Amino acid sequence: MKPADSFILVTGAAGGIGAAVCRELALRGASLVLGGRSGDELLALETELRALGARTSRLVADLVEEDPARTAQRAIAAFGSLDMVINCVGVQTFGLAADEAAGDTRRMFLANTVAPIQLCNALLPHMTGRGNGHIVLIGSIFGSIAFPCFASYSASKFALRGYAEALRRELAGSGVRVSYVAPRYTRTAFNRDAVARMAEALKMNTDSPEAVARSIVAAIEADTADTYLGWPEKLFVRINALLPRVVDRALIPQVRRMVGFTRRAESGPA
Ligand SMILES: NC(=O)c1ccc[n+]([C@@H]2O[C@H](COP(=O)([O-])OP(=O)(O)OC[C@H]3O[C@@H](n4cnc5c(N)ncnc54)[C@H](OP(=O)(O)O)[C@@H]3O)[C@@H](O)[C@H]2O)c1
Repeated sequence: MKPADSFILVTGAAGGIGAAVCRELALRGASLVLGGRSGDELLALETELRALGARTSRLVADLVEEDPARTAQRAIAAFGSLDMVINCVGVQTFGLAADEAAGDTRRMFLANTVAPIQLCNALLPHMTGRGNGHIVLIGSIFGSIAFPCFASYSASKFALRGYAEALRRELAGSGVRVSYVAPRYTRTAFNRDAVARMAEALKMNTDSPEAVARSIVAAIEADTADTYLGWPEKLFVRINALLPRVVDRALIPQVRRMVGFTRRAESGPA
């Protein structure tokens, strides 16, 4: 789908990747509904996007708390119709599974999995009724390669990928397309200090949010079902699917080093 002249809801719009996606879309002539929790952050982004010539509307909502039907209604009402939703909301925890607070596990699944699924489900009648629409889900390379110290985060993104795949099959021929885009490590505030230090020590490949945004928009324009960003990460996704023990051999030796950057390391030996 071409973003020009489309009405697009971007959730997590004030985040690092979300805001970069909004800028790319604004330059292409899209009208944007900016979803986020902070009215001030959305207002600052809106001012910037309007200066680029975009039509915008702000949708201030906590997507975990608000009834998805109401969010969907508000998003459609902003311009009277909605062509696309790009789900950029996400939260992450880093550490050993045994150390994760129960509330964090719950929060992560609600924000990364339940909220986007419920929002897309609520938008589907509008899109299928018009025989036109595009659902875009931002996953993660960790949604295909389950990473130690990111167990719940990985699981939440595996689930989102499963939803995207099932939905794409379910909607085949309906005029509503589904794209799943999986970034690798992206330099945004999403990765707190400890994760950033760990990534540097392990020499992880990283991308700028601007580069990721360009890839997301290219995937949308090309109507690609699944996009994995970064080389060699996209190859490892394939290897992990076919030969997971090979990836075990690469990742398991890293666990001890990764733990060195977690809270457990700061509080001394368990
Ligand atoms: N950065 C990476 O390394 C990376 C790699 C792979 C995949 N991803 C995925 O890419 C997406 C965007 O990540 P990012 O780097 O742009 O992260 P980010 O800068 O932290 O942005 C995430 C956005 O989600 C919003 N959000 C969180 N919980 C919410 C809720 N309950 N209701 C409404 N909004 C909520 C945040 O709003 P607040 O500011 O109000 O918290 C923030 O604007 C996420 O799905 C993430 O999992 C990121």
